[in-house]
Amino acid sequence: MDFRTIIAKRREGIAHSEEELRAIANGAASGEIPDYQLSAWLMAAYLKPLTDAETAMFTLAMAKSGEHVDLTGVPKPWVDKHSTGGVGDKTTLVLAPLLAACGLSVIKMSGRGLGITGGTIDKLTCIPGFSSNLTPADMVAQAKKIGIAVAGQSHYLAPADKALYALRDVTETVGSLPLIVSSILSKKIAGGAETVVLDVKCGTGSFNPTIDHAEKLAAALTRVGQQAGLKVFAAITDMNQPLGSAVGNALEVQEAIRVLSLPESELSSNSKRFRELCRYFGALALRVSGMAGSGSEALARIEDTLQSGRALEKARQWIAAQGGTVDLTDDSWLPRSTLQEIYTTHTSGCVAKVDAKIIGEIALEIGAGRKSKADEIDLAVGLELHVKVGDFVTVGQPLATIHAQSSEQLEYAKEWLLMAIQVQNAPVLPLPIVVRPA
Ligand code: URA
Repeated sequence: MDFRTIIAKRREGIAHSEEELRAIANGAASGEIPDYQLSAWLMAAYLKPLTDAETAMFTLAMAKSGEHVDLTGVPKPWVDKHSTGGVGDKTTLVLAPLLAACGLSVIKMSGRGLGITGGTIDKLTCIPGFSSNLTPADMVAQAKKIGIAVAGQSHYLAPADKALYALRDVTETVGSLPLIVSSILSKKIAGGAETVVLDVKCGTGSFNPTIDHAEKLAAALTRVGQQAGLKVFAAITDMNQPLGSAVGNALEVQEAIRVLSLPESELSSNSKRFRELCRYFGALALRVSGMAGSGSEALARIEDTLQSGRALEKARQWIAAQGGTVDLTDDSWLPRSTLQEIYTTHTSGCVAKVDAKIIGEIALEIGAGRKSKADEIDLAVGLELHVKVGDFVTVGQPLATIHAQSSEQLEYAKEWLLMAIQVQNAPVLPLPIVVRPA
């Protein structure tokens, strides 16, 4: 097939056949189509978006461009959870053991962080001995034994997405809705998923700045997922302020362990908000997989699994199974920065803004994230936020603790915290954590 014809069809907005979409996916995965032609097609697809039917066919073609994880023998129900990415998003660390402790099988491939968006695999790197380097066969074997396995994205799954994503990144075509949808769903299908609960983030710290954009993405993921044979349940959640109190790898692991271990009354108000999100997605997963008959039954089961310590016990089993050699009752093994400084408010009033984007950029700049894929990250640095939107504060009250390695980093963080956290006279009504339920 002459790839110039495929580019020309897209440029004119003429629908692709299934065979053409398969040729694009397979040619991207094998490297047979040169980058300059794929880039031209991507820009054409950005300007003349794929229809839902084309997107579903392209999703399946990308999913079939590499290996497929065969979950045969893993006890059902299987549920995968995916987040479109945000600042302080450590949900998988709590939700995966929580769901496995409720009897679901959780097999999850996660990514490393890039830009202001953190990645689960980086957070897990904080645990001494823990390995995310499992083959699909290792993951299946582990899930059969203990109901949970979390590993880095396999290079063998949906290789077409890997090739196309790298080109989208450098050709300003990441933002195309059908390309985002096929990228996310192809990896889920190749990973063996049947049911996916999706956390579509909306706000300054996500790639959906407006609710309108998030609604469109959530609806497209659900529609196209259905056409591609997946059950997708997408909720929109707030990412105008970071999720929970911790932003930074070791700090986020510490917060996740606290949420799994402590009664709600002993958590900070930000961690309570994070716990609420975990409860919501936990209950949603139980409901959509038929493990609970109603929302209230599902929530009660999630709450009981957290409070009884069964979720924490599952986290212990999971970490040990993947080589982690730590005691979860004592977090002294977590990497710690050399400097900590409390940042306080100069004004009294109501917290109007804790800008997730600026907080994410501070964490990135002091080393918690990577600007390009090859960057090393510092697991110990980051921020702990002590307030959230709608809280009332008085002069001198701590707003955040900065965890840094140098006085320059502390100064940088303080300068930008002034912009990130705004306090005003008038009361502010915060957005709920779940902005639009699935
Ligand atoms: N996450 C993905 O996996 N792909 C995208 O295109 C965007 C977010």
